[in-house]
Amino acid sequence: MLKTSYLKIAGTLLGLLIVTFSAVGQITPPQSKVSQENIKIDALIKQMTLNEKIGQLSLFTSDWDVTGPSLNDNYKKMIKEGKAGSIFNAYTVDYVRELQRIAMEQSRLKIPLLFGYDVIHGHRTIFPIPLGQACSWDMAAIEQVERIAAVEATAEGINWTFAPMVDIARDPRWGRVAEGAGEDTWLGCKIAAARVKGFQGKDLAANNTMLACAKHFAAYGAPQAGRDYNTVDISQLSLYEWYLPPYKACLDAGIGSVMTSFNEIAGVPSTSNKWLLTDLLRKDWHFKGFVVTDYGSINELLAHGVAGSIKDAAQLSLNAGVDMDMQGSAYLNSLDSLLKEKKITMIRIDEAVRVVLEAKMKLGLFDDPYRYCNKARQEKEIMTPEAIAFARKMVSESCVLLKNPNHILPVPATVRSIAIIGPLGDSKKDMLGNWSAAGNWEKCVTLVEGIRSKVKDNVVIYYEKGCNTNDEDRSGFDAALKIVAKADFVILALGENGWMSGEASSRSHIDLPGVQNELAEAIVKTGKPVAVALFNGRPLAITKLNSLPVAILETWFGGTQAGTGIADVLFGDVNPSGKLTMTFPRNEGQVPVFYNAKNTGRPYRASEPDAKYVSRYLDCSNDPLFPFGYGLSYTTFSYFNLTTAVAGNKITVTVQIGNTGSRDGEEVVQLYVQDNVGSITRPVKELKGFQKVMIKKGETKTLTFNLTLDDLAFYHPDLKKFWEPGEFTAFVGTNSAETISNSFRIR
Ligand code: BGC
Repeated sequence: MLKTSYLKIAGTLLGLLIVTFSAVGQITPPQSKVSQENIKIDALIKQMTLNEKIGQLSLFTSDWDVTGPSLNDNYKKMIKEGKAGSIFNAYTVDYVRELQRIAMEQSRLKIPLLFGYDVIHGHRTIFPIPLGQACSWDMAAIEQVERIAAVEATAEGINWTFAPMVDIARDPRWGRVAEGAGEDTWLGCKIAAARVKGFQGKDLAANNTMLACAKHFAAYGAPQAGRDYNTVDISQLSLYEWYLPPYKACLDAGIGSVMTSFNEIAGVPSTSNKWLLTDLLRKDWHFKGFVVTDYGSINELLAHGVAGSIKDAAQLSLNAGVDMDMQGSAYLNSLDSLLKEKKITMIRIDEAVRVVLEAKMKLGLFDDPYRYCNKARQEKEIMTPEAIAFARKMVSESCVLLKNPNHILPVPATVRSIAIIGPLGDSKKDMLGNWSAAGNWEKCVTLVEGIRSKVKDNVVIYYEKGCNTNDEDRSGFDAALKIVAKADFVILALGENGWMSGEASSRSHIDLPGVQNELAEAIVKTGKPVAVALFNGRPLAITKLNSLPVAILETWFGGTQAGTGIADVLFGDVNPSGKLTMTFPRNEGQVPVFYNAKNTGRPYRASEPDAKYVSRYLDCSNDPLFPFGYGLSYTTFSYFNLTTAVAGNKITVTVQIGNTGSRDGEEVVQLYVQDNVGSITRPVKELKGFQKVMIKKGETKTLTFNLTLDDLAFYHPDLKKFWEPGEFTAFVGTNSAETISNSFRIR
């Protein structure tokens, strides 16, 4: 049970005066406004019946009809009775207004509803999947994506997004890697903060900003064997060092809500984990917003085997620190009797109600419950030409050039005919990827369409599917080979279907599914130049494809503007600059393989490739297929003159980078550090900085990175974070494996 209130209560003027909190939004309102708001909330809580309080802690999904979202009469009745305080999966102005009207006109206390939705990579304008966006290493652009998403979502009545998903993941079998930022914690924190800022803006009460939700708390990205919802069992040290920081980064950016994860950690499911939700989140991290469960996860405590009944589960969750029950009705059906039995307290219920009401107040819903229901905005602010243009830019920024032998790409200007082949070449539905919110697949531009609109009548475009994504049917190979015979250049569109990643979409084999490798082999045999555009929601083990003399461009699932953005890169209008934020393994047996691993006592050394008793495989190299940070350009860069200097608290690293190729290009210059000797083992490299810079052909730039001693700190077995003196190595390079280095000493 929560003994002390996590809201700091000061002043006792009739028990009404509560001060000092800034639950949500970047800007803390003036003290007097905060006090006023608290007085209102206090007064409201006093008027609420127990059932009305429980209603504020209950979130229910809207239904879907063929014609659009709909709410069944039972839920409408619940809104009237004050039993449903928030609704999710409901949007469009008329519909949201109607539901809000029921709350405002027919419920006793007229408390406005929150409207939640999974706005994960855009609302109507769909951007590349989050893993793809992360590969842009462009924080301003990622923030802008969420700004556009928030503008569109709030124009349709939504005021709360179940994003960002900030789960660090090192296992590409897990389908939800598509929703995150990849494997690195440091970069994950930067991206998490950018996303929160984009959604919540500077003022949550503005009508085009929305409440964000950090999920899935915690460590949902580390399920055993990469199987979704599976057990998480990691050391406390790993949890602090690698998995927790991005959630904390969301808090530091002012996030207003946190969602619990489905998994357990060390035997305790997150949704009943008092240490996680109260001791860590509330007491150590001072979180002031509200905690919502994931979908039905209170009820899942039964399957986890920590509760014998829904009632027990509700008791565990409320007392652990869960404020709002998503879709489970566990609170609705149990809190009343739990209170009578004194298994929970009214103080705890009131705390939970308060943080939910505070969020509604921060959003301005008490001033105007219909502020997100503006028809004019809905008509004007969705899929604007600016949003579409930005989506196109984001697609090309997210693309990662994995391989480009003999400068196959960009497509030479002399090419007069192109054969586009592959199951992903003209599949609108797949372009959205998973979690595509209110995105309309019919509005997506496919690769075939994107290329046709780029080359107009100057180049003849043929298209054949060749095969399906995921079956054994080879009957389309012949037709594919026929158009190859007519063409100067071949573009293969291969990969996964959009539904093959995301929730409940783990795969044990992560090579190209179906007969796509065979199709590629057959086409390569013709001797025509071949470039592959890869569509996928996770790193793939494409060792076979990589062994062919083809160019490979990783394009992820680009969303609404997939085809145009990819075409910009294929034809060289945009020089690719994306860098992987998750390692691509050679095969599944290497998984998990990630760049910031430990050295071990018997490290493998390339200089002794046949050494036996070292940490290696007999049948596969230790190196991944493509390392973290990897990505080619149409130009080349060379790194030299790395210097390090330490002065007081500051470490300065300088490096020169020359563009040695024949085009201007952007490079993501990456700085890694190794603590050579620590009191506990340290990773061989840790990302500590990066700069994305444009370097003109022939030009050399000098870059400076400034670190402080705090950047060298790490968690110790007592969970204290501090740096240790000694020798360090700074590595700077084009990816985590190809770097130049220099050492420095901290005394
Ligand atoms: C997912 C969450 C999502 C929620 C609501 C769950 O199944 O795990 O990420 O926000 O559904 O749609």
